[in-house]
Amino acid sequence: MGGVERAPEPSWGAADVVSQFRTEGFSDAGEQAALVAVERWARGDVLDVGVGGGRTTGLLAARAASYVGLDLSPEMLELARQRFPGVDLREGDAAGLRGLPDAAYDLVVFSFNGLDALDHDDRGSALAAMARVARPEGRVVFSSLNLDGVSFDERPWRVAGGLLSPRVRYHLAQAARHPGSALRAVRNYRRSRHQAVDGHGWALRPLRAHEFRFVVHFATMEETVAEAAAAGLEVLAAYADDGSELAPTTRRTDADYVHFVCRPAPG
Ligand SMILES: C[S@@+](CC[C@H](N)C(=O)[O-])C[C@H]1O[C@@H](n2cnc3c(N)ncnc32)[C@H](O)[C@@H]1O
Repeated sequence: MGGVERAPEPSWGAADVVSQFRTEGFSDAGEQAALVAVERWARGDVLDVGVGGGRTTGLLAARAASYVGLDLSPEMLELARQRFPGVDLREGDAAGLRGLPDAAYDLVVFSFNGLDALDHDDRGSALAAMARVARPEGRVVFSSLNLDGVSFDERPWRVAGGLLSPRVRYHLAQAARHPGSALRAVRNYRRSRHQAVDGHGWALRPLRAHEFRFVVHFATMEETVAEAAAAGLEVLAAYADDGSELAPTTRRTDADYVHFVCRPAPG
């Protein structure tokens, strides 16, 4: 029977997405600063949420007393297992962290804006679960896309950042090199833009990475700190993706995304 061919639901397990998570090292200077700030905790029991292809496994597993990596995508885990055989890598959902014990980890990490893959409510559940499984004196590190940053509300045909900026030049070169990718980006954007949502200090929008197939969460810095507090996390330090330190009381910043270092709120 004939019919309209429907595009598949976007998935973190798609082969072309997984293949981009074979990377090593820090994602950016801000992640490096955040992980240096929690070096003492990184030597204890570590839980790495949304571990993807294992980039942060390479950064964290060897020096931790114990290490567990968790991801929702079996395909991502397969890549991480190939790269790090013998490491404890499990399938599980960040929203709830079901089956993981309370107050069991010195350091809980959700890196490279993985938290933004969750919708607004699940994000709150994930932050509360990270607060639950961290030891009272432990640390929780996550990063989050900024509503005031250049990645917010981009269009396939409009790259933010100024005509001569390295970001614009990079994307123009990519489009010239991979015209098929530019066409897929337009097609994906046309579909995913209908899932845009606007909240108070936060919004859901298609993200340029992965050809606009994912609709992800953006929030102002003030909103993210408030969200963390509502989930039982106190922000101790924050770093922009360029590595500069931001006071936790900062309300708005033009950083593209921000790394937060937190502890479970005392009491
Ligand atoms: C942007 S990638 C980051 C991967 C890795 N942390 C890195 O820095 O290279 C986001 C990851 O979060 C995972 N993810 C998305 N939603 C999740 C959820 N609800 N629970 C656990 N993992 C999730 C995806 O499968 C993907 O591997």
